[in-house]
Amino acid sequence: MTLVNTPYHHNLRSDYERLAGFFEAIKEKSKGTVFDLGTGSGVLSSWAAQYADKVVAVEINRTTSKIAQRNLEAFNNVEVVNADASKYQFSTKADVIICEMLDTALIDEEQVPVLNSALKYLKEDGVIIPCGIINCIEPVESSCEHISYEEDGFPKNSVLGDPIFYSKLMFSKPVEPKFKQMFMIKINRKGIVNGLKLTTFTLITEKIICGPTPMLNPPLIIPLKKINVVENDMLEVNLSYEMGGGLESVRARAEKIHPKP
Ligand SMILES: C[S@@+](CC[C@H](N)C(=O)[O-])C[C@H]1O[C@@H](n2cnc3c(N)ncnc32)[C@H](O)[C@@H]1O
Repeated sequence: MTLVNTPYHHNLRSDYERLAGFFEAIKEKSKGTVFDLGTGSGVLSSWAAQYADKVVAVEINRTTSKIAQRNLEAFNNVEVVNADASKYQFSTKADVIICEMLDTALIDEEQVPVLNSALKYLKEDGVIIPCGIINCIEPVESSCEHISYEEDGFPKNSVLGDPIFYSKLMFSKPVEPKFKQMFMIKINRKGIVNGLKLTTFTLITEKIICGPTPMLNPPLIIPLKKINVVENDMLEVNLSYEMGGGLESVRARAEKIHPKP
């Protein structure tokens, strides 16, 4: 069978590091009825179809859903639906929900709004792939002054402080989309902090953790106003964003805390 793809979905399908974890999880967990939300080219559905009785593959983009339809036509237990998965009314409940609408810290894609709304269609003992994420924040000196993802080593950045693993989100319960937190970050190298680096690790299952790959959660660099720092300085950092709200929802500021004499 010849597969068809958009360039974006071709890149997703060529990222074997990303796919390997999903393949293992889908092989282990798929059974009964599976929903694949944001099916794209249909790659994850094509694996689930080999272990499940029925797969419902939902894709919002019309052209992409036609591509999925073609790629999945050999499976008579797959139904491709062109719809917004956050609004679609399923006629059954699922044993497994697959949803790969991930983005670094879940900011720029619809993982959280879609899963929050689809949870009511998951059976009580049902599972979600991926089951959650872990986020990490670090202060950096970056060569870029606007918000950007780190790809192929660009923008160049050096980490100047201790990492903080600041949130573990599990998708089995509704996730509050609005995030706001203050951090105290210890500097461990002299330099100029002008950014924050967010790194997201995906819990594909409780046992399969996937770090950033080229097409899965590349680190996000958020600009800050410049602060000269030396070892042992403390930065007070305030960060807020909305999961599913896009990069324009990100707000960040930092200041050096001077110890009282
Ligand atoms: C990161 S891609 C993943 C595609 C595929 N699941 C894979 O792993 O290769 C996310 C897909 O979700 C689709 N999508 C985004 N928002 C959606 C929504 N609300 N409902 C259904 N599909 C959506 C996008 O069009 C895109 O094809």
